[in-house]
Amino acid sequence: MDPIAVIATKRDGGELSRTQIREIIAAYTAGDVAPEQMSSLLMAIVLNGMSRREIADWTTAMVDSGIRLDLSDLRTVDKHSTGGVGDKITLPLTPLVASYGLAVPQLSGRGLGHTGGTLDKLESIPGWRADLSVDEMWAQLREVGAVVCAATTDLAPADRKLYALRDVTGTVASIPLIAASIMSKKIAEGTGALVLDVKVGSGAFMRNRDDAEHLARAMVELGSDAGVDTRALLTDMSSPLGRTAGNAVEIAESVEVLAGAGPSDVVELTLALAREMLDAGGLGDVDPAENLRNGQAMDTWRAMIVAQGGDPDAPLPAPRHTHVVLAEATGRLAGLDALAVGEAAWLLGAGRSRPGESVSYAAGVTWHAGVGDEVRSGDPLFTLSFDDESRLDRAVSRLSDAAVVADSAPRPGSRLLGRATR
Ligand code: URA
Repeated sequence: MDPIAVIATKRDGGELSRTQIREIIAAYTAGDVAPEQMSSLLMAIVLNGMSRREIADWTTAMVDSGIRLDLSDLRTVDKHSTGGVGDKITLPLTPLVASYGLAVPQLSGRGLGHTGGTLDKLESIPGWRADLSVDEMWAQLREVGAVVCAATTDLAPADRKLYALRDVTGTVASIPLIAASIMSKKIAEGTGALVLDVKVGSGAFMRNRDDAEHLARAMVELGSDAGVDTRALLTDMSSPLGRTAGNAVEIAESVEVLAGAGPSDVVELTLALAREMLDAGGLGDVDPAENLRNGQAMDTWRAMIVAQGGDPDAPLPAPRHTHVVLAEATGRLAGLDALAVGEAAWLLGAGRSRPGESVSYAAGVTWHAGVGDEVRSGDPLFTLSFDDESRLDRAVSRLSDAAVVADSAPRPGSRLLGRATR
């Protein structure tokens, strides 16, 4: 395999053969292709795209770079979100769906940049641990049904290495590469069914609906072709979800949802995704709102936290400092910029700028009004929570234009924008 010939084919707008794709991914994973060669190929893919056949071959090559779990003994259904600000849906959704007897393996990641990581949020619960062996994950799936843990490094190692390179070479923003990256991990994980939450808007990877539909369709096709029952919902991420972005603050909000309360958009999305997952798991007649009302989803949450060493009753980390930003005008909240809120939470210490950095569990942003709500001058608009005082000024300045207060504002519509099919 000649890496230069592979790069030249893509640079000139040609199609890569299955053999070229298999060989270059295997060689890169083994350390036999230089990072500058792989980054050149990735940039050619960003600029010239890939055919459906190339995306499927790229995905298969990444799955084949590692182990593939066999969960076929269990009725498994997983959810994946393309990531957004305040997106804590995995936290109430996993125990809710598992409380109906399905097995939900949520192999998750840590946050990088302005979208938070599910594992960082859960690690704010004292004692909870993310790193489980495959045997521990398997046992918990059987006993509790719900598990959220770090993906083992043996699953799609080619993607792990490629993603790190894409992150520093401006080659993340490519629908074929994103679709292949997400689906290689899901196919390797061995889930029987998968529901995708593809976010659209300022706080998401996909800023417009056409791109989101394109990405969703590509992923549904990849999953279906690999024998995974795959569906996708398109959901709105033009404003942040719920009322909190950060780590401990998002755990507290998720527990409210599990207790039958919580912000209406978080509840709406949790129930919509739960219905899809239950349907994919053969339980299409079930109303998931029932187990939020009767406490069974909360019981499964507690069992899931305890199984991973956490104490669900322990107080969550409290911030050393808080700062309240007051509204400067009276009217209605006409817009709240998801990206600005996500970046403010990150600036306060809730996220990391480099893999391996530690995060502040207590850092985050709470907004006191949602889009469409009344706002009065002098009332609290945001509460910023943080441990390190030197982080405050930049976060406050990032939020300075985030909220738009106008004389009138329409009530926000549903977060559900549509669904993608093959
Ligand atoms: N999430 C992934 O896992 N991969 C991407 O390429 C983008 C988002």
